[in-house]
Amino acid sequence: MTERKALVAGNWKMNGRLDEGSALARAIAERAREADACDLLVCPPATLLVPIGKALAGSGVALGGQDCHAAPSGAFTGSISAEMLRDAGCSHVIVGHSERRHGCGESDADVLAKAQAAWRAGLVAIVCVGETRAERERGTAIAVVTGQLAGSVPDGAAADNLVVAYEPVWAIGTGLTPTIADIAEMHAAIRRHIPAGTRILYGGSVNPKNAAEILALPEVDGALVGGASLKAEDFWAIAQAAR
Ligand code: 13P
Repeated sequence: MTERKALVAGNWKMNGRLDEGSALARAIAERAREADACDLLVCPPATLLVPIGKALAGSGVALGGQDCHAAPSGAFTGSISAEMLRDAGCSHVIVGHSERRHGCGESDADVLAKAQAAWRAGLVAIVCVGETRAERERGTAIAVVTGQLAGSVPDGAAADNLVVAYEPVWAIGTGLTPTIADIAEMHAAIRRHIPAGTRILYGGSVNPKNAAEILALPEVDGALVGGASLKAEDFWAIAQAAR
């Protein structure tokens, strides 16, 4: 079986200004320099990519974008291309986060084009999938998620260019999580649809208290962390639980 090193990624979303963001990144970098950790990734807002990249330099903590446009450049006011993220020091980009799929109306086809853009720029695409509360209650969660995978993971996916993040929409920012059995079942289902060795992260209300139990599941290869990634000690505690 292919060895899959755990990855803990912090999605800061639209949080952080220069001073606090830099301090947070420095605190994470300091811990990462001092102790062994799993693979770590920080995804700050685009305005902070360059200074956060500097704060993380030499720590082994990677830098990622939260979204990208599918085109390399052009008349797309307010958008950022995968090439620009690469230029700012990123190695990864999140695509298809539910706050983009549901909040901004992005389709599977949009997400697929963004993942292709990530690869064109040499970035790892973190493709997010996840069902709504209603879909879980209807018993269609696995069908929804595997459908999202089929529609938004491009041909050519491999363990070194793709990470899948399973984030149930109803678990994001709510303090709610699926049962351990439901997470295990979903990750096993996802595993059957992606190349061997590809990492599958769980995301949605991960915190220092629940991380160990979730991360102990054999098909869970790390976490995509929102709120708890904004505190260095919480993010670090989750990273330690993933080792
Ligand atoms: P929370 O950890 O705040 O629930 O957010 C999860 C998430 O959306 C990460 O991308």
